[in-house]
Amino acid sequence: MVIDAEALVIRKRLEQSLKELPPLPVAISKVLDETNKLEPDIHVIDEIISGDQALASKVLRIVNSAYYGLSRQVTSVGQAVMILGLQQVRTITLSVGSIAAFAGRGAIDAEHSRRFWEHSFATSAACNILGKRLGFDRKALETMSTIGILHDIGRMFFFCNFRPTYEKLHTKALKEGKSFEAVELGFLGDTHAGIGAMITEKWGLPDELVQTIKQHEGPFSDSTDKMVAVLALADWLNKPLYYADGSTTPVIDFDPLLMQVLGLNDSMLEQIRVEVRNKVEEASQLYGMVA
Ligand SMILES: [Fe+2]
Ligand SMILES: [Fe+2]
Repeated sequence: MVIDAEALVIRKRLEQSLKELPPLPVAISKVLDETNKLEPDIHVIDEIISGDQALASKVLRIVNSAYYGLSRQVTSVGQAVMILGLQQVRTITLSVGSIAAFAGRGAIDAEHSRRFWEHSFATSAACNILGKRLGFDRKALETMSTIGILHDIGRMFFFCNFRPTYEKLHTKALKEGKSFEAVELGFLGDTHAGIGAMITEKWGLPDELVQTIKQHEGPFSDSTDKMVAVLALADWLNKPLYYADGSTTPVIDFDPLLMQVLGLNDSMLEQIRVEVRNKVEEASQLYGMVA
């Protein structure tokens, strides 16, 4: 493969930018560590979140918003955990943290950022819907929600660091009718999935999460892991959210191999699609509160 001069420069800069990755805020890592334990201690989680004023006030603002429609005012993080459950609080915390890690870094505009996070929240919600349908246990559902939020963090990284090039690649994919990932790989030497895996690994997140993110754009086979298949479907169902600006994108059918892995047929897929669509609006409301 011939690599042009621009690609070589970008690949060099890519290595450097990866070394300068924004860290995941300390409080967020601690919350993730605690919620990953077999028996997480709610008091510890309360203490960690409450110790970070900006984070605590955002969590409380979200918990008390119309989105959750609670009948009484929640005044402490501990209460929020009791009412919403660990999974919700973990998801809110992670969203606030990962948005904060990339906020103000690079040339990403507000509209683009909104679309990115709406896609991520909607994918997380869809992961949950699918996981429940497939009988995933509580732990797996929590992991899937987190994965949904972070799965495209590599795209965010590319956008913050290499926006003009990344936009050019998008146009090239459209023009040549190729998948965006194939163009990423050819030019940058890796896809956003690979970069996302590097970022989440550097953030010290569990290997299961890192590996699922790494594989979410394929290639797939009939032995693809179920978590990867769930993420790929949740992602595919929400891909149009990226292109709310009206730009056309090649319509790529969902990989039939993954339907097989998940044991789904067309009518089940249609039901899931409707259920996910109903959640998308909620996901965009959530973004307005988290950012
Ligand atoms: Fe992706
Ligand atoms: Fe995605």
